[in-house]
Amino acid sequence: MADMTLKKKPMDRDGFLKEMQKMEVRRQQAASDPIRLCYHLHPPVGWINDPNGLCQKDGIYHIYHQYVPFYPELCSVLWGHVTTRDFIHYEIQEPANFPDTKWDENGAYSGSAFVKDDTMYVYYTGNVRHADKEYDYITGGREQNTILMTSKDGFHFSNKRLLMKNTDYPSDLSLHVRDPQVFCEQGQYFMIQGARDLQDTGSVLLFESSNLTDWTYRLRFETKEPFGYMWECPNYLKVDGRQFLIACPQKMRKKENGLVKENLCGYFPLAYDFKGSEYDVGEFFTLDRGFDFYAPQVFQDESGRWILLGWMSTPDADYDCEVMVKNGWVHALTIPRELYVSQNGRLCQRPLKEFRQMRDDGTVKTLEAGAEFCTDVSPCFEWKLTMDDPTEAFTLLLRESAVLSYQEGVLSLDLTGCGAGRTVRSICLPEVRDLWIFSDTSSLEIFVNGGEETFTSRIYDSMEHLQVTLKAGKGRKQIELYGLHT
Ligand code: FRU
Repeated sequence: MADMTLKKKPMDRDGFLKEMQKMEVRRQQAASDPIRLCYHLHPPVGWINDPNGLCQKDGIYHIYHQYVPFYPELCSVLWGHVTTRDFIHYEIQEPANFPDTKWDENGAYSGSAFVKDDTMYVYYTGNVRHADKEYDYITGGREQNTILMTSKDGFHFSNKRLLMKNTDYPSDLSLHVRDPQVFCEQGQYFMIQGARDLQDTGSVLLFESSNLTDWTYRLRFETKEPFGYMWECPNYLKVDGRQFLIACPQKMRKKENGLVKENLCGYFPLAYDFKGSEYDVGEFFTLDRGFDFYAPQVFQDESGRWILLGWMSTPDADYDCEVMVKNGWVHALTIPRELYVSQNGRLCQRPLKEFRQMRDDGTVKTLEAGAEFCTDVSPCFEWKLTMDDPTEAFTLLLRESAVLSYQEGVLSLDLTGCGAGRTVRSICLPEVRDLWIFSDTSSLEIFVNGGEETFTSRIYDSMEHLQVTLKAGKGRKQIELYGLHT
């Protein structure tokens, strides 16, 4: 994200509440913005980025997030807080974490929650930027502290406790070490953190602990060849017995279909027994092929499901990510997605089953070979398509001018006419068996082949007289199309 900490303006609870009173006009302006999302989390006013501290405790899902409430006026980032029991109805709570200590005065950066017995342990990065002279903020002028707060209910937190500072991390690292995630494996507690070393190579650090407060460095997960200069927001997860490491490698300049993507977000299959120092990090898979997806966080809910939410934006894009800032709010989170592993070992994402509650009666039909399907839609819809012939070319017109087409083994999303500078994203796929599309006022999330691939993007069209059209070929298609209402 853009560094929000340049202006040093620590924000405690009282300061926040006082400033918030002045925001009523902006709040109303934001509330009446027609492109406000209907079923996605987004700020009432101000800026949102990474989801943080995701967990479920006593039935309540807690979704904390990076929050700059007065954006475009800057302040040190804090943690907003939203709760839900069903992922349909949300309650915005008072922010849960203010940058109010000397360890986090320039930002309560990203982190995670670990629930054990009746206690929520929240670990995050306290960002400090010194302004007394010129620094590069890589090797000097910055602190990234690992901080712990605990809570019995997710609303009230203990005093903050400094667990680690830069001198506690390995000495070959730069000052960029952040975004802790804590988990338990083999009866032992582990913490991972994203890191950038002094050679500008990204990695994920692994620490261990027996009591959740004293941490010892064990090793770092890295690729054989350097892969990006910093890995942000790491997540470890074990789904259906398979281990994965999610990370956001920065400044990759990786070419994907002729397009240079600077910041990637994806996962490595991981093989590690959490005992010795031997591990295997497999091939990197991009988690999402769209324009607006970064810094996802995963957690296991009380029923054991692995759920992912991402930031529906991206840092340093060359297209307009702040279309809605003039109306007082910027960015959103993705819909929550359940993770599962496909037969070929890919980490797949699918919309939560809870979303079925939002459906209207809809249309369920078979589209016969050669037929064309065209119908009016509201901006909030869900469209499921299953192809009898998965190799067949097709073209979908979504809403006003978004085009999803499959030709000669390439699936492309073209937002040239409605993307505020977003153009085309493509991926080579030998077949497209199914599509599951979620459209909200100003977003599109497309799940392909059971969610093995996804495309997440903001979209800015007129929202009037919208249609979906499918130009079908020889094969039959099963269609389910629903309007969505919360
Ligand atoms: C990712 C990120 C994190 C950091 C946070 C600050 O978007 O840069 O690495 O903790 O945002 O807002």
